Amino acid sequence: MCGIFAYLNYHVPKTRRDILEILIKGLRRLEYRGYDSAGVGIDGGNNKEWESNAKSIQLIKQRGKVKVLDEEVNKQQDLDLDIEFDVHLGIAHTRWATHGEPSPVNSHPHRSDKNNEFIVIHNGIITNYKDLKKFLESKGYEFESETDTESIAKLVKYMYDNRENDDISFATLVERVTQQLCLFCFVFQVKRGSPLLMGVRSDHKLSADHIPVLYRSGKEKKSCSALICLCLCFYYVAYSAVIEHTNRVIFLEDDDVAAVSEGRLSIHRIKRTVGDYPARAIQTLQMELQQIMKGNYSSFMQKEIFEQPESVVNTMRGRVNFDNNTVTLGGLKDHIKEIQRCRRLILIACGTSFHAGVATRQVLEELTELPVMVELASDFLDRNTPVFRDDVCFFISQSGETADTLMALRYCKERGALTVGITNTVGSSISRETDCGVHINAGPEVGVASTKAYTSQFVALVMFALLMCDDRISMQPRRREVIQGLRVLPDLIKDVLNLDDEIKVLAEELYQQKSVLIMGRGYHYATCLEGALKIKEITYMHSEGILAGELKHGPLALVDKLMPVIMIIMRDHTYIKCQNALQQVVARQGRPIVICDKDDYETAKNSSRTIRVPHCVDCLQGILSVIPLQLLSFHLAVLRGYDVDCPRNLAKSVTVE
Ligand code: F6R
Repeated sequence: MCGIFAYLNYHVPKTRRDILEILIKGLRRLEYRGYDSAGVGIDGGNNKEWESNAKSIQLIKQRGKVKVLDEEVNKQQDLDLDIEFDVHLGIAHTRWATHGEPSPVNSHPHRSDKNNEFIVIHNGIITNYKDLKKFLESKGYEFESETDTESIAKLVKYMYDNRENDDISFATLVERVTQQLCLFCFVFQVKRGSPLLMGVRSDHKLSADHIPVLYRSGKEKKSCSALICLCLCFYYVAYSAVIEHTNRVIFLEDDDVAAVSEGRLSIHRIKRTVGDYPARAIQTLQMELQQIMKGNYSSFMQKEIFEQPESVVNTMRGRVNFDNNTVTLGGLKDHIKEIQRCRRLILIACGTSFHAGVATRQVLEELTELPVMVELASDFLDRNTPVFRDDVCFFISQSGETADTLMALRYCKERGALTVGITNTVGSSISRETDCGVHINAGPEVGVASTKAYTSQFVALVMFALLMCDDRISMQPRRREVIQGLRVLPDLIKDVLNLDDEIKVLAEELYQQKSVLIMGRGYHYATCLEGALKIKEITYMHSEGILAGELKHGPLALVDKLMPVIMIIMRDHTYIKCQNALQQVVARQGRPIVICDKDDYETAKNSSRTIRVPHCVDCLQGILSVIPLQLLSFHLAVLRGYDVDCPRNLAKSVTVE
């Protein structure tokens, strides 16, 4: 996880202060990726030879959020902040700790030695770092941190000190170091496993729209494009870190090493395959800066909850025709026949994205008439689950980068299954590595707690189910009902959002409680799981989503007059059974708060309080029942005084196992 950001300006005079501001701003945009600690490293400027930069490199590192680092940067007296340089390079990192507790010394950048000759920022895990450390210590290198990353910095120094000739280039050195690392992710400008993009800005027209990829065969000089500024960072919402500088980017691929020297960018491949002479295209990002600003909202999460009337429309735009009840999914069109012939569907995901699979499983089973398995990616892999060539495996992921989901994707591909991505991030690893897919188009989601991505994943999976049965005559009445349900959905979401004040009052009554149970069944079991996840992750209250059908098999023992219980009871095929569960709770002196249909007076009679939501077609009702819980978790977290967008110990994109 961790966010990394680097900035190089070439022949545009800038001061250290300018560069540090750019770095800090970049880190702020990446903070959702980790916020245990942060650090920057900056060179002295205008040193053409990378070797001589070393003496002037400065490191500033702090435990805590980027704000704390920013304060520390401003306290620095000896940085000559206002002298202008033509060429400047800075690298920055915001950390989500894996090896070593959050502390200044464990923060990145890490250094090769006390002179800061080589400094490194890194995302991911070096799985062989203990062996490397042992080896390097035996050679006299002294480690100062508990991190795996420090072994990279020391290894670069070792390989440099032991180089066979003096004119070894930095790119070559990095490539050699990379070959020694068992990386879960990547080093420097090396991409392996995790996403990396370079933003490119030039005051001159770039000479090529494709950067040729070179191999270590002496062709470096052929590389192209005069670059004036270049930002290097993780992509995905890290788009957000780049977008204020440029919308022109290059996505690096696994084993690419990008090097910039004298304003020239060259991309090398660590491993050459015969006949492979690819290029990396400069692509234009379709994103506006305002999309990643909070606007008038107090947090990104709040903004994203309130964006849902538009985000679900964007998921459906150009895909659902409400006049003739048809669905088109361009990303699946070449594979839909094959999918229709498959033996079973397997939906694989983590966290909230897994819940989107649970929420739509029933409608998928109904409309496709196929067995549907919904799997947590980590457990799916732990079990070595059998997968066959005639399976179709879906990988649902907001970020498109979740490590467990990505590994499950590779596992299924190896076994010959057709793979389908449901992601929010164009160009992400999952969207690139799957055979086909659907982008949910919810727009960037910055809040660590996923909200609008969930409802858009939900809609995308329902659209897929509709597409699967579009030529089945017997299904047409149901298809029309669901499609007309999708038509009214955005307005119904607005009605639910109007309950915000009422939900805030409920939060005021609950926020000092230790625990909340959320119960439901059928289409709303997923709502219970998702509501409980939202509450625990941002309020740190204990919360459990309970299948109401399981109540009497154990969880009922938790119910008494003090335990807050939220129940979801909608007028669908489980209504009577839910009424029974309600009676069982009331009989134990429970005082349930019930999310129910707007005009369900029967349920209201047995509840201590109701949250009444509009009615829609049963298989979409889960979108309306989850929003009150999103709002409730938000208000509870605010009342408990927590940072809604950056819950402790979590990060937005989980790129480590
Ligand atoms: C919870 C949340 C996480 C993610 C999970 C998978 O609010 O956001 O549970 O859903 O980490 O992430 P993606 O969807 O990016 O694969």
